[in-house]
Amino acid sequence: MGRHCGYLALVSALACGADWVFLPESPPEEDWEENICVKLSENRAQKKRLNIIIVAEGAIDYQNKPITSEKIKDLVVKQLGFDTRVTILGHVQRGGTPSAFDRILASRLGVEAVIALLEATPETPACVVSLSGNHALRLPLVECVQMTQDVQKAMDERRFKDAVQLRGRSFQSNLNIYKRLSVKIPESQIVKSNCNVCIINVGAPAAGMNAAVRSAVRMGIADGHRMLAIYDGFDGFSKGQIKEINWSDVGGWTGQGGSILGTKRILPGKYLEEIAVQMRAHNINAVLIIGGFEAYLGLLEMSAAREQHEEFCVPMIMVPATVSNNVPGTDFSIGADTALNTITQTCDRLKQSASGTKRRVFIIETMGGYCGYLANMGGLAAGADAAYIFEEPFDIRDLQSNVEHLTEKMKTTIQRGLVLRNENCSENYTTDFICQLYSEEGKGVFDCRKNVLGHMQQGGAPSPFDRNFGTKLSARAMQWITSKLKESHGTGKKFVTDNSVCVLGISKRNLIFQPVADLRKDTDFKHRIPKEQWWLKLRPVMKILAKYKASYDVSDSGQLEHVQSRSHDETVGI
Ligand SMILES: *[C@@H]1O[C@H](CO)[C@@H](O)[C@H](O)[C@H]1NC(C)=O
Ligand SMILES: *[C@@H]1O[C@H](CO)[C@@H](O)[C@H](O)[C@H]1NC(C)=O
Ligand SMILES: *[C@@H]1O[C@H](CO)[C@@H](O)[C@H](O)[C@H]1NC(C)=O
Repeated sequence: MGRHCGYLALVSALACGADWVFLPESPPEEDWEENICVKLSENRAQKKRLNIIIVAEGAIDYQNKPITSEKIKDLVVKQLGFDTRVTILGHVQRGGTPSAFDRILASRLGVEAVIALLEATPETPACVVSLSGNHALRLPLVECVQMTQDVQKAMDERRFKDAVQLRGRSFQSNLNIYKRLSVKIPESQIVKSNCNVCIINVGAPAAGMNAAVRSAVRMGIADGHRMLAIYDGFDGFSKGQIKEINWSDVGGWTGQGGSILGTKRILPGKYLEEIAVQMRAHNINAVLIIGGFEAYLGLLEMSAAREQHEEFCVPMIMVPATVSNNVPGTDFSIGADTALNTITQTCDRLKQSASGTKRRVFIIETMGGYCGYLANMGGLAAGADAAYIFEEPFDIRDLQSNVEHLTEKMKTTIQRGLVLRNENCSENYTTDFICQLYSEEGKGVFDCRKNVLGHMQQGGAPSPFDRNFGTKLSARAMQWITSKLKESHGTGKKFVTDNSVCVLGISKRNLIFQPVADLRKDTDFKHRIPKEQWWLKLRPVMKILAKYKASYDVSDSGQLEHVQSRSHDETVGI
């Protein structure tokens, strides 16, 4: 679907690693019929038994003639004789239960819209509220409509470069990354850098880690590096579990959950000597770490050890990947979206279970250590009555008022109550305690059941968001590595400054590289959380939606901006 907009086709192609995608904004080159056949038969020759071709509803060729799925099928069958099936998705794309991302997005935009209305004066132009990266924006409606019409005009006039540009930075970068990752550049055309770049997964597994590894490997190879995979985290690193990894080794990794390379929580601290030996033995010129809080700590330890071990004086970068979303320096980490979806779906099921019977309250314990992100955002997405988190201390009086509030609500037509609790929100008000309290106080009105979600929150196939977020963050990290390596090329210069050890993250509207040393001051090491967390300001939204009186801070809500200003963003939203 999507009429003349190729967004859905492009983003799905990126998320499932499709072999080919046809878009209205970027028609294939003149001889595409020959090219697609060559590509498909090359893939078969490498024993790949399945090819996916995605066709946008409005796909056209350079002559603005439609390219339909039937036409492609006929071509493939006639030229190659492959068994080919056409699936037209149609309206299934409109239906279904909303993902956690969509629910939270809708809630945030709804709040923005109300604030925009309250702030409007007779002179305010009609506007569209939107989110750019993680930042709310208001854009003039007239300009947005104009922009959409300009895209169509550009396509009609066959100015396809302009059409892609007018769709925005994020569309452009999706398209570039898709092209880089789907087409292997012939060996002869790659300019060798003579650099070895290693990739390592650290910490607990998170959905999307494999997509990040795939993207890094392919980007790195295209940039001329030799890519080395390190198996089993820092433990494997110290023992020399290091192997070269090639383009085709990572085929099909995008959609797989967990960590194929293997990941461990062990920190490098005790093994620095052994790791340095391995770095020297394999002549490693740059390090890419994909992982959560342990990865962050590990990076700090390695950067602190640069004086003792000059092997660590190479560019090192971390891409945050953890379900807990507790890495300093970024608003989001890879894997958190998938975990939120799991939590939301489970809450939906619990709410629906035993429907038509008694009134019931569910107490649900989520993961995250001391970080309340999953409990809070899961609560917002599932429509919870309360979410207890460590970041917002609570006492017996809060619990009492919550119980009374819920009891009053359950005396009306409401049949199900939902209370989320982050695993380490309080030492003494445990999940058992809260369940017993609600049971006792709700006697005669509702009964109470508890559910500890546990490790199911770390599993599962990555959501489209996590696949693409992983792919894009990692591609960006690899670009950074390449540019750093170019800086020093041939000079044998050692990297000693703080800005050669970075955490890549998303903040408000932009992707940012922050020296890991600078993030120390923003970190609560005892509780393994960042000192400031942006999502805390969404707490009142959940409370207001649960019919509590709460006030929402409008100070950093969106301001009216012009559409053109968006083209300066380097956003990664899907
Ligand atoms: C990876 O590809 C390069 C270049 O094609 C080749 O020299 C090397 O042997 C391959 N390595 C592995 C482990 O397959
Ligand atoms: C955090 O919560 C988990 C699960 O309830 C528990 O096993 C662990 O001991 C808690 N950690 C701390 C430091 O309270
Ligand atoms: C929990 O209770 C114990 C004593 O029963 C107390 O020592 C501890 O400080 C309490 N924890 C918190 C976080 O208040």
